[in-house]
Amino acid sequence: MAKPKPSILIVEDDESMQDFLTTFLEQEGYEVQWAPHGGIARQMLDAQRIDVVLTDILMPEVDGVEVLDYVRERYPDTAVIIMTGHSSVRQAVDLIRRGADDYFKKPFDVDEMLHVIRRSVEHRRMQREARTAAPPAAAGSASPRELFPNIIGQSSSMLPIFDLILKVADTHSTVLIQGSSGTGKELVATAIHEKSSRRSGPFIPVHCGAIPETLLESELFGHEKGSFTGAIARKEGVFKLADHGTLFLDEVSEMSVPLQVKLLRVLETGTFRRVGGVEDLRVDVRVVAATNRNLKDLVDKNLFRHDLFYRLNVFPIFLPPLRERAADIPVLVQHFLQKLARSGRPSCTASREALSLLCSYEWPGNVRELENVIERAVILCGGGEVRPEHLPQELLPRKPGPPPPPQATDLPFRAAKTIFEKQYVQTFLARYEGNVAAAAKAAGMSRAHFYELLKKHHIDFGRHQDG
Ligand SMILES: Nc1ncnc2c1ncn2[C@@H]1O[C@H](COP(=O)(O)OP(=O)(O)OP(=O)(O)O)[C@@H](O)[C@H]1O
Ligand SMILES: [Mg+2]
Repeated sequence: MAKPKPSILIVEDDESMQDFLTTFLEQEGYEVQWAPHGGIARQMLDAQRIDVVLTDILMPEVDGVEVLDYVRERYPDTAVIIMTGHSSVRQAVDLIRRGADDYFKKPFDVDEMLHVIRRSVEHRRMQREARTAAPPAAAGSASPRELFPNIIGQSSSMLPIFDLILKVADTHSTVLIQGSSGTGKELVATAIHEKSSRRSGPFIPVHCGAIPETLLESELFGHEKGSFTGAIARKEGVFKLADHGTLFLDEVSEMSVPLQVKLLRVLETGTFRRVGGVEDLRVDVRVVAATNRNLKDLVDKNLFRHDLFYRLNVFPIFLPPLRERAADIPVLVQHFLQKLARSGRPSCTASREALSLLCSYEWPGNVRELENVIERAVILCGGGEVRPEHLPQELLPRKPGPPPPPQATDLPFRAAKTIFEKQYVQTFLARYEGNVAAAAKAAGMSRAHFYELLKKHHIDFGRHQDG
């Protein structure tokens, strides 16, 4: 028996646009209907089965937001896709958070539109199957500890994160995980994959900052034989390897702008080309990205493309630094002690004094640093009780330190000038994320002069020196 054609309802007040969409989508094998505004759309939804609603946001009478809410309340198997003008992409992203499946921009790239429609139909189908197959309310009654045995945390700032993971896991939305180094971004990315219906597919992490710029494109998209010196055979990239699974793009801020454009294209159309290739390859990959920098700041400074930022940031998750969830430290310590004992290290407990020091430290390296400190302490203690002397110096109570540095106005002019100069260039360098060219420009000095000051004051100017 032939499969029924997927049915699409277009909700759009512009008739020429509706005409174009109807003709095009009918040619592509869809059953197409049209409603000029949301009120009629609701009646049509009640009257028949609709697989996909394509809706404009702004319409007379009942608008796209109300259509979305109506579908989400009543028709869980119906996908809602937002059609948006270039200027309202941010609003479309808000609607995805509100339950829309996806969006595409007018004027349409038809490939992108078809991709978004197919993907949404497929996704709703997978969800329907998972819903009918899963034992009822399996997740509803389980505690975070049972659902996420590897992610330890019961503080008020961690509990909402478990909730977010469960909510987003089984959608196709890209997720952007932000948090300082060692806060557990990769752990959360893994959990999103494992809680999704893609869990039987691959989970592939790529550390964008660790791969030289020139190789990253080929790592992501693959290359054809002979496409550059050293390309002795065709190689598939991670987008292909992650087909039907999840691709974790770690340190996504480190991607060059030209590569950001290519990444945006795959996210929008699901297609890409190998380096040196002419064939468009289509994949079904869910992207989870992470960064320990403030991506919005980089967008404001034109170092990260705003359209890619919105695409990635459909579903943001912020991981708080460990010092803001000190309530989790005792359970984390317990978890790491048990983990070490299971792996054959001496079995230890933490003394009350040691725990109190662990709880009052700032943890600039977050959970990773805590894990390392516990491992070191277990080795030093060799079994029994971990005590303060097994902890690193920086955790111990401070002895009275040296007197504070003198104020510039108390110093001779030359010394004060040196201090000012150093602080000044350091501040500008930090403000421009280590980008010397940008910092020098903002400071109104030549790049050479700025470099000279950096060298004079022994300031490490990192990887953006040519940027
Ligand atoms: N909530 C947690 N419970 C248990 N272990 C954790 C937790 N958060 C982090 N860890 C552990 O800390 C280490 C660092 O975590 P992870 O690699 O996920 O951090 P990250 O945010 O990706 O860091 P980076 O930015 O440096 O890549 C890992 O060994 C991880 O297992
Ligand atoms: Mg990481």
